[in-house]
This record gives sequence, structure tokens and C-alpha cells, in this order.
Amino acid sequence: MEKKDIDWGNIGFGYIKTDKRFVSNFKDGKWDEGALIDDDTVTISECACVLQYAQTCFEGLKAYETEDGRTVIFRPDLNASRMADTCKRLEMPVFPEDKWVEAVKKVVKANEAFVPPYGSGATLYLRPYMFGSNAVIGVKPAEEYQFRIFGTPVGPYFKGGAKPIYIRVSDFDRAAPHGTGHIKAGLNYAMSLHAIVDAHDKGFAENMYLDAATRTKVEETGGANFIFITKDGKLVTPKSNSILPSITRRSILYVAEHYLDMEVEEREVEFSEVKDFAECGLCGTAAVISPVGKINDHGTDIEFPTGMDEMGPTLKKLYDTLTGIQMGRIEAPEGWIVEI
Ligand code: PLP
Ligand code: COI
Repeated sequence: MEKKDIDWGNIGFGYIKTDKRFVSNFKDGKWDEGALIDDDTVTISECACVLQYAQTCFEGLKAYETEDGRTVIFRPDLNASRMADTCKRLEMPVFPEDKWVEAVKKVVKANEAFVPPYGSGATLYLRPYMFGSNAVIGVKPAEEYQFRIFGTPVGPYFKGGAKPIYIRVSDFDRAAPHGTGHIKAGLNYAMSLHAIVDAHDKGFAENMYLDAATRTKVEETGGANFIFITKDGKLVTPKSNSILPSITRRSILYVAEHYLDMEVEEREVEFSEVKDFAECGLCGTAAVISPVGKINDHGTDIEFPTGMDEMGPTLKKLYDTLTGIQMGRIEAPEGWIVEI
């Protein structure tokens, strides 16, 4: 497969238009067959539910070229099922999960020339999404929907790649108890835009959100879950009903326990404990594992012993094992890798 002429090693996390995208429409209570199309634009009513009431949700997963030249995707079944959960919470119709995975595979296959070469540091990010498309003026769910999937080659989510980042404790909340923090609704990201612009303006790469009810427990950032390593080498990750159940985090927990013989704990994490951890990282499809070097808490820095130069040794082991599995260097658990 001849690849596109792109400077793979130097792309950031941005949008690059690819050749084909998948589109399926929901009308009269059912989804049509769906098709790959060339048109990257969307035409909908000025009064579409997505435009008026933000009825939209999305997913994110990646395709990789492996060391031996295969193209694979990582655990797409979990993204399909998380999108189904999201749709139910937003009163949107579920796109059947088996067809969802098939449609992702079709998009990757049709854009294989955009799957970055093995070892380039880039990957093909896939963005399945759905929105209410017919005109709705009273507050109620749409009756017609569009489900689409596009792909775009991406590099590291944070500038500097695997360099530790400096984040701050946010004074804005991300998700209410019993709200929508546990699903991948577009509205969660709309409300984070002011907080992220403000954080960037002040020199921070991300926001650490605390639980909205008590502001004492660690939740997540705008686009990734937290993982911490204790001084005695245990992996700790926050448990909360208002964070997104990250597929990367679930995979890391498994890798830590079954590949690296580590102890793992998924539990409530008090913000007051954070200063005692040896390593801190963000995990997600886009973030992979991004180390956090420092956290600013209202003017006071919490500095992890691993510093601002390099990823700590335990996160590095987790990173190498996880990406080794994703890129075919290390044998994957049953069902994790889907070949195109
Ligand atoms: N948390 C939020 C708010 C996210 O947007 C994401 C990205 O999808 C994650 C966590 C990480 O989830 P995953 O590992 O499934 O990509
Ligand atoms: C992902 O990791 O797939 C996300 O959706 C995070 C987003 C902030 C890019």
C-alpha cells in the first residue's frame, strides 16, 4: 500500500482530510445501509436538534500499522458499546454495534494510504459521531439522525510528545453527579472550552477537574483519565460515576496486572493524596499515556519526583507495553486487536 506524501513524524493532533467517510441516516425509525462517500461536508436544517440543543455524541479510536505491515484497530467493540450507552442517555438511536465495527473497518480500509507508517509516531485517528439532524424547536429529541465516521492522521495530543506536562486544578466543574460525565456527549466538551482556553492562556496544558459536589476528589481532565503510581509501585486510578470510562485506562489496568505483575487499585482518590504519588499520567486514545510533571493548585505547585524532563520509569513500562500491544510487537489479549 503506497502511503500519502505526508511528513508523518511532524504532524500534530489536527484535522487532515482523508478520502472517504462513512454515512448512515436514521429516518422513520430505522437506519439505512450506509455508504462510503467523498463529500466531507454536512448539510442539515438550520433548526436541526444538534444545532439548537447540542444533541450530538462521538467516539475516538485509532488504527495502527504494525511492525509486520498489517493495519489494525484497537478494541473497537468497546467504543461501539460505549457509544450505545451514550446514545441511550441522550435519547438517540443506537447504531447496531456489529455494523458500527464493520463501518469503522470500511473507513480504515478506504483510507489505508493515510494510516501512518509503523514507527512514525503518528496514527490514524477515527472519529465516529452522531447528531440529531431534523428541525426541532420545542425541547425534545430529534426523529432523524446521521451517523458518520471519518479518519484523520494524527501525531501526539500534547506538544512535545512524551514530555511531562504542567496542568492546573480547575475552578470550573466538568460534570455533575448524576449528569453526563460518564458518556461521550459533545456538550461535555463544549462546556470545557472556556476552561481549556483559560488554562492555556495561563500556561497550563490541561485542567484537572475535581468532583463537582465536594471538590475534594480527583476526577479527570477534559479529554483523559488519570493514572497514578504510588511510591511502592502500585497503580491507582480514580473511580467515579461522573468520569468517562476510558478504554485506554481499562486496558492499562489489565496490562499492569497481567503483563507487569503490578498491584492495581480503582478507587476514589482524594486530591490531598496526590502530592504523595511517585508518578502521574493522563491516559486516553488521544493522550495515550502522557506524563504529568507538575500540578498547580491555586498558586502552589505539586511536583512529582519524576520531574519535567522525562516520563517516569513505571509509566514508561506501561506505555511501552500498551503501545507494543497496539502495534503488534507484543502479543495482545484475545480480541483486543482487529485486523483490517
Ligand atoms: N476522558 C475523557 C473526557 C475523554 O474525552 C477521553 C477520550 O476519549 C478519555 C477520558 C479517554 O478515553 P479512551 O481511553 O476510551 O479514549
Ligand atoms: C480521545 O482520546 O479519543 C478523545 O476523544 C479525547 C479528545 C479530547 C480528543
